[in-house]
Amino acid sequence: MTLETQELSFAYGAEPVFAELALAIPPGRITALVGANGSGKTTILKNLARILRPSHGAVYLDGRSLAQLPTKAIARAMAVLPQNPEAPAGLLVRELVGYGRFAWQKPLTAMTAEDKAAVREALILTGMTELADRPVGTLSGGQRQRAWIAMALAQNSRILLLDEPTTFLDMAHQFEVLSLLDRLNIEQGRTIVMVVHDLNQALRHAHHVIVLHAGKVIGSGAPDAVLTPQTLAAAFGIRADLIHDPRSGRRICVPYGLVATGE
Ligand SMILES: Nc1ncnc2c1ncn2[C@@H]1O[C@H](COP(=O)(O)OP(=O)(O)O)[C@@H](O)[C@H]1O
Ligand SMILES: [Mg+2]
Repeated sequence: MTLETQELSFAYGAEPVFAELALAIPPGRITALVGANGSGKTTILKNLARILRPSHGAVYLDGRSLAQLPTKAIARAMAVLPQNPEAPAGLLVRELVGYGRFAWQKPLTAMTAEDKAAVREALILTGMTELADRPVGTLSGGQRQRAWIAMALAQNSRILLLDEPTTFLDMAHQFEVLSLLDRLNIEQGRTIVMVVHDLNQALRHAHHVIVLHAGKVIGSGAPDAVLTPQTLAAAFGIRADLIHDPRSGRRICVPYGLVATGE
């Protein structure tokens, strides 16, 4: 399933967040979207999922413009994990995950055996089975994040769009979430687009990286080729060494300073 944009432009008000973006998300791969705060990552993800509509240009799913597709067709193809998801008070984990099935259900009908199996599977994959009857509001940050990921998984879509899935998690839970995404990608061939702040997570887990700076793509391609000292200076204003990690065979990013202003 292909996902790409042509001449994608978006503005909340008068000032465009980005203009004329041509993005191509490699199918069956993990793409990391990186960039400083306010560079437009969330806005791009929302346009890819049609949560926001472009002011100009379009997003194409398998060559068809999202503007022409029914909502359910989009939801069957793509699941979204928002940056700061909020569940209604009192909602149980099992109910939240069940919401992931809406794209597959007929209005006003009970969950089918297939829906129930998808919910069960999503709870198992995220290690949430034992917490299924807890209200989402009573979970720790890491558990809550896994509950939302379970909801996205229950949707059974080929494409997962995740906005900062690891922010606010401790290191073990970050590792858990990223290993889960690796597994979904390797074993099930799902296409994953994730916004991450930790560049080492992009270097380690992504096949493809898109670097945004003030709404412009300033780098796109293989992580080692794209995440260079020059790009990191331009996108984040940091000076960093990229050194070889003998364990993963990839590079790791070690920031050591800020780019002096006026340079
Ligand atoms: N709902 C909104 N209304 C107006 N401006 C917004 C809104 N959401 C984001 N912006 C602005 O759009 C730009 C990009 O924001 P965003 O896509 O959230 O960036 P990122 O996710 O990279 O931090 C920022 O300048 C931000 O202030
Ligand atoms: Mg954001």
